[in-house]
Amino acid sequence: MTILETRRQHWPDEAACAASAERLARHDALRDAYVELHGPLGAGKTTYARHLLHALGVQGRIKSPTYTVMEPYDASLAGAALPVFHFDFYRFDDPQEWEDAGFREVFAGAGLKLAEWPEKAEELLPEPDLQITIEPGPGDERHATLAAHTARGVALLA
Ligand SMILES: Nc1ncnc2c1ncn2[C@@H]1O[C@H](COP(=O)(O)OP(=O)(O)OP(=O)(O)O)[C@@H](O)[C@H]1O
Ligand SMILES: [Mg+2]
Repeated sequence: MTILETRRQHWPDEAACAASAERLARHDALRDAYVELHGPLGAGKTTYARHLLHALGVQGRIKSPTYTVMEPYDASLAGAALPVFHFDFYRFDDPQEWEDAGFREVFAGAGLKLAEWPEKAEELLPEPDLQITIEPGPGDERHATLAAHTARGVALLA
């Protein structure tokens, strides 16, 4: 996979993670984007997704899609409705589920797709517009690398 551009971010605490997600949420290019969240267990992938969803106007509890694989949301971007699909493929091991659960249609359709543990469904997923890799440091510290794979991804880094 080609990487067109990367950004490194240092998050001393969760507030910095939230600020990064809030900056991403201001981009119109998010509308039909596919964003992957990489990093080990407890890195902060769901936390980043939560801050992003809140910044996109989703209210209330945002649960981790670990058991359901996908959680859909009605968010908004620049005053217009934005469907968001939050995936966690950690427990995904049956390619038939990809068809049965309608994930193929979701990825072919409109809206923002976010995926944790995409490596567990690698052969089925498209190339991401943006790959966010979170490396845990001591305590609440994190290093994040944002890598753009497409022109849309480059727009998300602007
Ligand atoms: N700088 C930070 N950025 C993100 N999360 C942080 C930070 N500092 C502390 N945390 C905490 O780390 C935890 C990250 O858990 P989270 O569920 O987001 O991880 P995850 O990467 O989704 O793990 P999993 O692979 O199990 O899904 C949360 O409790 C969050 O509050
Ligand atoms: Mg998670």
